[in-house]
Amino acid sequence: MRECINKENQKQYWDSISDMYAGITRISLDDFHYGPQIPGESTLKLLPKFTSGMTSLELGSGAAQNSIFLNKKFGMNCIAMDISEERIKNAHELCREQGAEVELCVAGFENFLEALKQAGHEGEQFDFVHSSHAIEFVQDPATIVKQMTSVLKPGGTLMLSTVHPLFNGEWLTNVVEDEEGNELEESGQFITNYFEPPDDVRDENGLHVVSRAHSISNWFDWLTAAGLTITALKEPAAIIDAPYSSADWADHDGQLDAIPSTLILVAKKSF
Ligand SMILES: C[S@@+](CC[C@H](N)C(=O)[O-])C[C@H]1O[C@@H](n2cnc3c(N)ncnc32)[C@H](O)[C@@H]1O
Repeated sequence: MRECINKENQKQYWDSISDMYAGITRISLDDFHYGPQIPGESTLKLLPKFTSGMTSLELGSGAAQNSIFLNKKFGMNCIAMDISEERIKNAHELCREQGAEVELCVAGFENFLEALKQAGHEGEQFDFVHSSHAIEFVQDPATIVKQMTSVLKPGGTLMLSTVHPLFNGEWLTNVVEDEEGNELEESGQFITNYFEPPDDVRDENGLHVVSRAHSISNWFDWLTAAGLTITALKEPAAIIDAPYSSADWADHDGQLDAIPSTLILVAKKSF
């Protein structure tokens, strides 16, 4: 039985590591990023054509680099939300530095509909709703996917990227002997149960935080149950010059070369 993910812990955790996270992470403002160490939109080309005046809503935005990119590159009207006040402070600073106009709001996946209402956007629907590497921190992704779909315009696009279910498996290093008795290192993946991948648990600063991966068929079911048609599903291999790179992710003893770290799903709402 999986433990219950505590939203308040997530908030406090991300508040506590916000500046450290900003320090070890490099996120380009010249590309739309999907996750650490993988190619961005300029290579993957998964998104529709965006034009000036289109609207976008980003959840779990961190410092809102993707929204800043969409605003500056295409002139889109962007809203970005994150549960962490500190991350949203970073986003304000970055918007100021970049001369970007993004509406920023402290709100979680769990209360973003209420936050939209309070910000005067009740009933509004967006051309693009997206979240990059954040939905793994929620308890009930199926409900969140439905809610994100409810604020999508007919014909609009949803993009979710999240931790790949294989990535949360344990990465083992075994030492084996060859025929001459030399010790060789062999690495490999161990996953106890693909259908319920092990949680990535972080106990830091007295806070217990869970990042949870789900099977690809679960994601497929949640998106289709929300009435969406999946137009792209990608499991990109790691690259060197990724638009999002992080000291934490770069060093994984070969794991990034052997299995995907990120699952990307792009889906359309029908007219
Ligand atoms: C790995 S960071 C990714 C940030 C950003 N999307 C990016 O790609 O740079 C995860 C983000 O999810 C946010 N987060 C965690 N739990 C959340 C929740 N329940 N609701 C909204 N945001 C959450 C954190 O505050 C953090 O900014």
